[in-house]
Amino acid sequence: MNESANKILVTSALPYANGPIHLGHLVEYIQTDIWVRFQKMQDHDCIYVCADDAHGTPIMIKAREEGIPAQQLIERIGQEHQRDFADFHIEFDNYHSTHSDENRYYSELIYARLKQSGHIASRTVIDLYDPEQQMFLPDRFIKGECPHCGAQDQYGDSCEECGATYTPAELKNARSAISGAAPEKRENLHYFFRLSNFEPILRGWASEGHVQKQIARKLDEWFSTGLREWDISRDAPYWGFEIPDAPGKYFYVWLDAPIGYMASYRQYCDRKGLDFDAIWGPESQAELYHFIGKDIAYFHTLFWPAMLHGAGFRKPTAVYCHGFLTVDGQKMSKSRGTFIKARTYLDHLNPEYLRYYFAAKLGSGIDDIDLNLEDFMRRVNSDLVGKVVNIASRCAGFINKRYAGQLAEEIDEPEFYREFTQAAKGISKHYQGREFGHAMREIMTLADRANQYIDEQKPWVLAKQQGQEEHLQQVCSIGLNLFRILVNFLKPVLPELANKSEQFLNIAPLHWNDGQNPLIGHTINKFKPLMTRVERKAIDAMIEDSSKHLAPTANEPGANGPLDQAPIGKTISFEDFTKLDLRIARIEKAEYVSGADKLLRLTLDLGGEKRNVFAGIKAAYSVEDLEGRLTVMVANLAPRKMRFGTSEGMVLAAGPGDKDIFLLKPDEGAEPGMRVK
Ligand code: MSP
Ligand code: ZN
Repeated sequence: MNESANKILVTSALPYANGPIHLGHLVEYIQTDIWVRFQKMQDHDCIYVCADDAHGTPIMIKAREEGIPAQQLIERIGQEHQRDFADFHIEFDNYHSTHSDENRYYSELIYARLKQSGHIASRTVIDLYDPEQQMFLPDRFIKGECPHCGAQDQYGDSCEECGATYTPAELKNARSAISGAAPEKRENLHYFFRLSNFEPILRGWASEGHVQKQIARKLDEWFSTGLREWDISRDAPYWGFEIPDAPGKYFYVWLDAPIGYMASYRQYCDRKGLDFDAIWGPESQAELYHFIGKDIAYFHTLFWPAMLHGAGFRKPTAVYCHGFLTVDGQKMSKSRGTFIKARTYLDHLNPEYLRYYFAAKLGSGIDDIDLNLEDFMRRVNSDLVGKVVNIASRCAGFINKRYAGQLAEEIDEPEFYREFTQAAKGISKHYQGREFGHAMREIMTLADRANQYIDEQKPWVLAKQQGQEEHLQQVCSIGLNLFRILVNFLKPVLPELANKSEQFLNIAPLHWNDGQNPLIGHTINKFKPLMTRVERKAIDAMIEDSSKHLAPTANEPGANGPLDQAPIGKTISFEDFTKLDLRIARIEKAEYVSGADKLLRLTLDLGGEKRNVFAGIKAAYSVEDLEGRLTVMVANLAPRKMRFGTSEGMVLAAGPGDKDIFLLKPDEGAEPGMRVK
C-alpha cells in the first residue's frame, strides 16, 4: 500500500431485495467497479462496499405473495444478487444487508442524535385505515381511480397511466388492496425529519463541488421550492426497524437505507480490525464517494448529508450520479424482451462484453445510456476481438513456435514504444474523472496504431524470407509489448481478459502503468484464444429468453406479465390431450384472498361436486361479476398445494393478461358437470 495515499471509501446504491439485478442496475455497479479497480491498480487504499436494501413495503408484499417470511426472501435474493455481481466481476470488499445488527445500531444512533438536537418533529396526520384488517394502509396498499385521468386500479401514490402523483386520500373509490374494504380516514402520529434546519449547511455543501453541475442546478430548484419535512415513520405491519421510543412505528426504509453504507463498512472494519471513524468521524480527511442513479439524487444530496451532519458524522466527498439505461433507444420493456436480467445475459454472453460496452458509453454526466444491440455486437467485435486481442494472436504464434516463446533481447523502436507508455497520463485522467468513453477511445486509437505497425511490418511475409529471423522476432516482440500496455490500460474494465493475458505473457498481475519498461528476453506461455466474437444468435437467444420469463409461473397465471407473450410450448400427443377432462362449472362463490395481488378463490360447482380453485384473474374480474356464471375447468388436474391453500383444478381463460382475461362463457344449454369436447 502507498502510505501517503488517502483512504478512500466507495459505495454503489444498495439494490432492493425484492427483485433480480438487471442490465440497468449494472450500469452503476460496472461504473463503480471500474473506478474502484482503477484506484486499486494505483495502490490507493480504496475500499468498495455495498449491501442489499432489505426493508420496506414492496419487500413485505413480495414475501407475502410468495408465502414466505421476509427474512427468507431477503436472504435468498441477497445471495442471488451477490452471485450476479461476482459473475460480472464486480468485486466488493464487503457486501452486507440493511437488515443487520450494524445497521440497526447506526440507525438508532443517528435517530437518537437527531432527536436530541431537535431535528425530529412529531404530529398527527390523516391516514387511511383498513377497518377489516385493522391497520393503517401504506400508499401501495390502496387502489382506486386516478383523480386526474380516471384510470382504474391505480396505487395510492401515483398513476401509472398519466404519471400524476397525489395522496391516497385524493384517490376516487379507494379500496384496501388487502381486504377490498373502503378505507376510513383516521388521525395517526408520524415522525418527521426537519430537513429545512439544514438548508444553510446543504447550500454550502452543494456549492463546494461535491455534486455534478446538473445536480447542483437541480439542488437550486429544490432549495427554491423549499425543503419540506420528511416523513420518516411508517406503521405496523411494516418490514423494517421499529423506532425505539415509538412502539408500532417503524423507520421508513429510506431512513435506514443509506445508513447501510456505514453498516457495511462497519462489518468490514470488524473483520479487518480497522477504525470506523477514520472514514466516518466528523474530522475525517478520508474520501467518501457515493455512486448512484439520478432517480435517487434527492435522497443522497439532501436527506443523507443532512442526516450525517446532524448526527455528528462527516459528509460525502462527492455523490456521482449516472443516467438511465435504455435498450435500442427505449425504456427496458418486458414484452419486447429488453428487460434483461443479469442472469439471463450471463447465460448467453461474456460479462466483459457488457463491461466494455458500458465503459465505451459512460461519461461523467447524467445522460442516459443506450444499449443498442447491433452497435454492441459491432463495437465489441471490432474493438476487443478485431483490434486488441488480434495484436496478440498475430504475434504470439511466431514467438511460440520459432523462438521457444522467447521475446527479443532489446526493443528497436523505443520512440514508438514510449508513445504508448506516455498515453498513460491522459488515460489516467479520464478514468479518474469517470470519462471512461474518452479513455476507451484513446486506448482504441493506440490499438489501431499497433495493428498498423504489424500491417506494415508483415510478420507473415518475414516468416517466409531468408535471414529475417531477428527482424521477425523484433516485430513480434514489439507487437506483444504494445499488447501488454493496452491490456494494462484496459484492466479496470476487463479484469478477466487481463488475467488471461498475464498468464499468457507469464507476468505478475499488472499495476497501473506497469509498462514503463518493456519485456525483453522474457519467455511467454503458449497462446490461447483470449476472447471470442459476439455471435448474433447469442444475442437473439438472450432476447428470446428474456421474453420467456414472462410465461406464467406455476402458482399464478400471468403473474409476470401478459399471457400472450409466452411462446407456444412443446407439442403434446393426441393421447395426452384426451387425458384432459374439461367440464363446465358454475362459479358458486368468488372471494378475495388476503395478501394475494392477483388471485381470487373460486368455489366451483361441477353439478354436485364442489371444488376449491385459485385463479389469477383478480385484475380482470371483481367477485360480483363472477358469482353465478359458468366457466370451463380442467376437472382432473391433481390438487396442488399453493401458498394460500390447495387448488383442486384450474379454470380456463384467454387473453393477454392483467385486466384482459376472459373466462370462457359457454353457449346456452350448458350445465355444470357437462363434458366439454
Ligand atoms: N434501494 C434503493 C437505493 C438505496 S441506496 C441507499 C434503490 N434500489 S434499486 O435497486 O432500485 O436501484 C439501485 C441502483 O440502480 C440505483 O442507483 C438506481 O438508480 C440504479 N438503477 C436502477 N435501474 C436503472 C436503470 N435502468 N439504469 C441505470 N441505473 C438504474 O434505488
Ligand atoms: Zn392518471
